[in-house]
Amino acid sequence: MAEPILRVDNLCCGFHTEDGYIRVVDGVSFECEAGKTLGLVGESGCGKTVSALAVMGLLPQPAGVVEEGRILFRGEDLASTSHETMRVVRGQKIGMIFQEPMTALNPVHRVGKQLFEALRLYGSGRDQDEPAVAGGAALGRRNRRGRRLYESRSEKDELTARAVEQLEQVGIPDPVRRLREYPHQLSGGMRQRVMIAMALAGQPDILIADEPTTALDVTVQAQILDLLRELQQARGMTMIFITHDLGVVAEFCDEVLVMYAGRIAERAPVGQLFKMPRHPYTRGLIESLPRMDTPSRTPLNTIEGVVPKLTEMPAGCRFSNRCAYADERCGREVPVLESCAQPGAVGEPRDPKRSGEAQAAEPRDPKRSGEAEAAEPRDLKRSGEGEAAEPRAVRHEVACHHWQRLAA
Ligand SMILES: Nc1ncnc2c1ncn2[C@@H]1O[C@H](COP(=O)(O)OP(=O)(O)O)[C@@H](O)[C@H]1O
Ligand code: SF4
Ligand SMILES: [Mg+2]
Repeated sequence: MAEPILRVDNLCCGFHTEDGYIRVVDGVSFECEAGKTLGLVGESGCGKTVSALAVMGLLPQPAGVVEEGRILFRGEDLASTSHETMRVVRGQKIGMIFQEPMTALNPVHRVGKQLFEALRLYGSGRDQDEPAVAGGAALGRRNRRGRRLYESRSEKDELTARAVEQLEQVGIPDPVRRLREYPHQLSGGMRQRVMIAMALAGQPDILIADEPTTALDVTVQAQILDLLRELQQARGMTMIFITHDLGVVAEFCDEVLVMYAGRIAERAPVGQLFKMPRHPYTRGLIESLPRMDTPSRTPLNTIEGVVPKLTEMPAGCRFSNRCAYADERCGREVPVLESCAQPGAVGEPRDPKRSGEAQAAEPRDPKRSGEAEAAEPRDLKRSGEGEAAEPRAVRHEVACHHWQRLAA
């Protein structure tokens, strides 16, 4: 793997609460390869958003704490860098689309005002003394302090032209009119497009998209995914795609990290993960997906039990209270990530041009786990890559004491 653009190493973070300090992300490590999409998947509350906010240096203060770990962006550790550097990194190096566009956009400001702010903060690099957040909270504070959005008529015209261009790039029709509207006047898909425009205002190298399609209906969801894919390919951006939807992961990601209760359960190239899930939790997630060939009225598979409370986590494996394979060792010893790829196995992530292919459907069949480990290298003609990339060793890791038993 080429030198990753972002490397997160043993990230541990949490919150001071009334019940004392609670660690919610526990030793998470991952790398993002330039131009690729890393999926962060796991059920609600497993620490996906908190991990992303820690990367952005935006954990809610004063409660949120990064206890330890390194967040290396192009080799520079963001976890220990100055606030000034982070202001430049946010927005201009790493942009984020926040969960829930309706709450991330400020409802009392027009779209144009919020987009102007984003363009001033990240676009020109002129005004760097505010947290560069593509969302309403920071913008609202700024406006309440009475700062001017522009100093002259010509500056306003320039900002308007750039804002119109941004909205056109994310496929918003009649952008001049939209700039004058308030968020509640836009549809859900339109609001999400505005959030994307704001996150991209500083031309970031990495875009973190936190559940960008969760609140949308499936048709709009597909449109937003298409838009993100187009933007990514046009700009050669790296993406971290946070979702709890495995169908979206199959469609969109190159590599996947499965998180459970603040830790990584499994990581693998996307095709490998669906063909050969090794962690009982990943298997449970994949087996819970509805399948086209399932007879009607067949109940869906579910994972029994619930995620333990943060204050009541088991000492060893956090999945042990729900796992059919758990034994005494699982309750005592924390499993660490280890390689579970077959020696010599090669594989490649998704084909970026497969829009018409049934790639998403392919992984939905968990019963194919007997297939050859060595996936066929796929078409790699995507931005930044050579015409004929070498097949690479599969990097497949799992944190489970008994994965071999499951693989047998
Ligand atoms: N400000 C906060 N104070 C205390 N706990 C929090 C705070 N924000 C998030 N958490 C807890 O951290 C855990 C992880 O949350 P989050 O990262 O948002 O999950 P998700 O995987 O759904 O994105 C959850 O249990 C959540 O309750
Ligand atoms: S270590 Fe593996 S087998 Fe044991 S409880 Fe955890 S997931 Fe199940
Ligand atoms: Mg979240």
